[in-house]
Amino acid sequence: MKEHKIAVIAGDGIGPEVIREGIKVLRRVAELDGTFRFTFTEFPWGCEYYLKHGRMMAEDGLEQLSKFDAILLGAVGYPGVPDHISLWDLLLVIRKHFDQYINLRPVKLLKGAPCPLKDVAREDINMTFVRENSEGEYAGSGAWLYRGKPNEVVIQNGVFSRSGCERVIRYAYELASREGKTLTSISKGNALNYSMVFWDEIFEEVGKDYPQVETHSYLVDAASMFMVKDPKRFQIVVTSNLFGDILTDLGAAIAGGMGLAAGANLNPERTYPSMFEPIHGSAPDIAGTGQANPLATVWAVSQMLDFFGHSEWGKKLVDCIETLLVEGKTLTPDLGGSATTAKVGDAVTALLK
Ligand SMILES: NC(=O)c1ccc[n+]([C@@H]2O[C@H](COP(=O)([O-])OP(=O)(O)OC[C@H]3O[C@@H](n4cnc5c(N)ncnc54)[C@H](O)[C@@H]3O)[C@@H](O)[C@H]2O)c1
Repeated sequence: MKEHKIAVIAGDGIGPEVIREGIKVLRRVAELDGTFRFTFTEFPWGCEYYLKHGRMMAEDGLEQLSKFDAILLGAVGYPGVPDHISLWDLLLVIRKHFDQYINLRPVKLLKGAPCPLKDVAREDINMTFVRENSEGEYAGSGAWLYRGKPNEVVIQNGVFSRSGCERVIRYAYELASREGKTLTSISKGNALNYSMVFWDEIFEEVGKDYPQVETHSYLVDAASMFMVKDPKRFQIVVTSNLFGDILTDLGAAIAGGMGLAAGANLNPERTYPSMFEPIHGSAPDIAGTGQANPLATVWAVSQMLDFFGHSEWGKKLVDCIETLLVEGKTLTPDLGGSATTAKVGDAVTALLK
């Protein structure tokens, strides 16, 4: 029987609460399928670990993780630990070290999910964001000079390499071609006259290999407006790290909220483990109350199933989420219900039958 070895970093706040449900669902899927199984190894890393050990993860943490097929991550960050430490020393270090250069985020308005937009049909919100996940504005390159002095200067560089841009853009073209969808590049070549002009050029160059794919290009400001006014323009979208980060939160807002938004950090070559996560944070305001919505985590594990080649199960999980939303009986408070995190997880596993 095929074994998928999963490293679990539940993290902080509601992280462990939603991850528990993700694991419950994966166990049930494996049980029903019968041809594969999961083993889960939990790592106690995150802010609590930091407060005890002065670091977010074990010193040899990356080496330990490298032995797994995938990483399931809850959320990291908690009051008491600066956010730039919790983000950089765990999440970003994993993304970079394991060259998870694709961040794949579905923005799809399921039936029954709330949408704040007026005059937009449900089917109009159905896009997949391919966000560059390894360099760009989040490369961590810069300097802080004359700290605390009147002439203090900070420099934050955007790093755009030819290979880095080409590989993410090519991935997006492949996806658009395979799915028979349009591809939209979002950049800002008018103002960012080096990085984004370069990005636009590479988008055109790579596109020569995919004449069958219909393409569009938008400036990021126009794209934000169209995502709200006319979201059906977007099918597959490729964009840089920072723009993708911001636009996918906008995407989450128009497609049911943070409780439904998931993301996969992929190393497509499978040289290293890929990482799957709900995109919300640790929600300290509701941690420990049983109100956390686990459906974003369920969607993230559906992406994991797709990545392992079990896409029939991946689809089934998204269908289960949709059924729960349409029935409206077992939902957490963020979606207008009164069910607990565990009850929603139970409802998903029950529907899988
Ligand atoms: N990927 C990550 O691990 C990640 C992402 C974003 C923020 N963070 C960290 O999380 C901490 C809190 O950040 P924040 O408050 O800005 O964002 P957040 O996503 O944790 O919370 C924002 C709001 O959404 C609600 N919310 C989030 N997830 C929910 C869920 N599953 N069910 C129901 N409601 C949910 C919260 O209750 C809160 O009101 C910070 O330390 C931040 O750095 C981590």
